[in-house]
Amino acid sequence: MFFIFPTPAAIAEHLSQHLIRLIRNNPDSKLGLATGSTMEPVYARLLQHLEKERPDLSRLTTFNLDEYIGLPASHPQSYSYYMHQHLFDPLGLDDSQINLPNGMCTNLDHECRNYSAAIAAAGGLDFQLLGIGTNGHIGFNEPGTPFDSLTHVIELSENTRLDNSRFFDNPADMPTHAITMGIKDILDAKEVVLVVTGEHKADVMNLLYRSPANPSMPASSLKLHPNARIYLDQAAASRIPAEALYHVE
Ligand code: GLP
Repeated sequence: MFFIFPTPAAIAEHLSQHLIRLIRNNPDSKLGLATGSTMEPVYARLLQHLEKERPDLSRLTTFNLDEYIGLPASHPQSYSYYMHQHLFDPLGLDDSQINLPNGMCTNLDHECRNYSAAIAAAGGLDFQLLGIGTNGHIGFNEPGTPFDSLTHVIELSENTRLDNSRFFDNPADMPTHAITMGIKDILDAKEVVLVVTGEHKADVMNLLYRSPANPSMPASSLKLHPNARIYLDQAAASRIPAEALYHVE
């Protein structure tokens, strides 16, 4: 399940081609999308391919993994802002095609229930893109989150708040809570790809490689999925035994 690529750019290229094939084969695809710095080269390359090849995107539906609670969509660190900037606006996707948890709503329980229900009503996700936190979180499913969880509110761990506060001009503005798709929502996707790049993710990859599926390492839940792959660059893969790595390109 561990695929090693020479560079983050090679991952972006491979994944972009894969996603375009998926959309061409099924223009009604439901895509689960992720944010974070890891995805920036992926979305940049995907945009280039989409602009050149112009598959029909009018029937595509997207569901994002997570959103901070308390940040309006206009805040540059909200995941809504990120997605509009990096993908949705350049592609001209209609609002009706886009689903993001609303971290500003007054009834969070209702929002969470509706979000998982909307994924199910759409027929489930055809593909889920994932990044990983240095503590093994996927989406914002922090260590300890049950594998049967649906969309829920989570208190962000110290580790995550420290990691992600670097994106905020004033680190004190970093939210303490988020809404995230649950691990069950993620595992229900037909196909899952986790993208991991950089030396700072080498330790968590070593841990993931060694961990049997258990909630203290949320990404280990992918070991229970029949069609989950982990795409690593050389730096992120540097602490995984060579024999466990499948080389691409
Ligand atoms: C956040 C997001 C995750 C993302 C992670 C890694 O915590 N909730 O979905 O995978 O960051 O981010 P980066 O790619 O910036 O390392």
